[in-house]
Amino acid sequence: MAGRLTVTSIARMKAEGRKVVMATCYDYPSALLLDAAGIDMLLVGDSLGQAVLGFETTVPVTMDMMVHHARAVRKGSERAMVVADMPFMSYQASAEDALRNAGRLMQEAEVEAVKVEGGLQMAPTVARLVTAGVPVVGHIGLTPQSVHSLGGYRTQGKEGSQAARLVEDARALADAGAFAIVLELISRPVAAQITSESSIPTIGIGSGPECDGQVQVLHDLLGLYPDRRYRHAKRYCEVGQAITDAMKRYADEVRSGEFPGPDHSS
Ligand code: KIV
Repeated sequence: MAGRLTVTSIARMKAEGRKVVMATCYDYPSALLLDAAGIDMLLVGDSLGQAVLGFETTVPVTMDMMVHHARAVRKGSERAMVVADMPFMSYQASAEDALRNAGRLMQEAEVEAVKVEGGLQMAPTVARLVTAGVPVVGHIGLTPQSVHSLGGYRTQGKEGSQAARLVEDARALADAGAFAIVLELISRPVAAQITSESSIPTIGIGSGPECDGQVQVLHDLLGLYPDRRYRHAKRYCEVGQAITDAMKRYADEVRSGEFPGPDHSS
């Protein structure tokens, strides 16, 4: 076993022009499967609020929830780097909060890195974390924890001033020591510009193919929610429908007496 990918391996991927593949992951069995598939980075995203816990946004997700899920993902993986989101209000109020809560994710869940949302204004906090030995992934563009201030889930960077600000945000995060940046729903030319200027890998979601890597929400890739469709996500299978079909067959067979048959009885 070669061991886990590290910040150095991720940096090397950009230098060598190899794409970084990241997907969200929230539990132990999924971590086993994604690790076996060779996904480079498992993101225990606070999207677990919508994907797993039935919330409408990421805002209600707490540190305890993140630690609980991140620990399971870490246990289920051997090769991938595990990155956990710092949830809403676990780092915004002070750098001390950020250090304490990042420390919990690294000590209690043993993740390799944390992700924080925000650009220029978050750079001093990122610098404090990095100085303390916490590897940080930045996240700019559509930042879901600010959905209520952004007024919805919209593409960012379409106007010139917004685009210039995003370029500045990315630069500030790299200067602060972040080792990668998620670019979420940023208009393609702006994401391409940030990627070509950036010393650290950009990992896009809905931001075009020029990014150094891609991240997607696992449940969107798998079609776990048949009714949720997003332009930025591609369905690689229909797991939701497959589960419903399988469970209908199970229910039918129990009701008809077909299951358990002789093979499943002692
Ligand atoms: O929480 C999450 O899933 C994320 C990705 C959308 C990047 O932050």
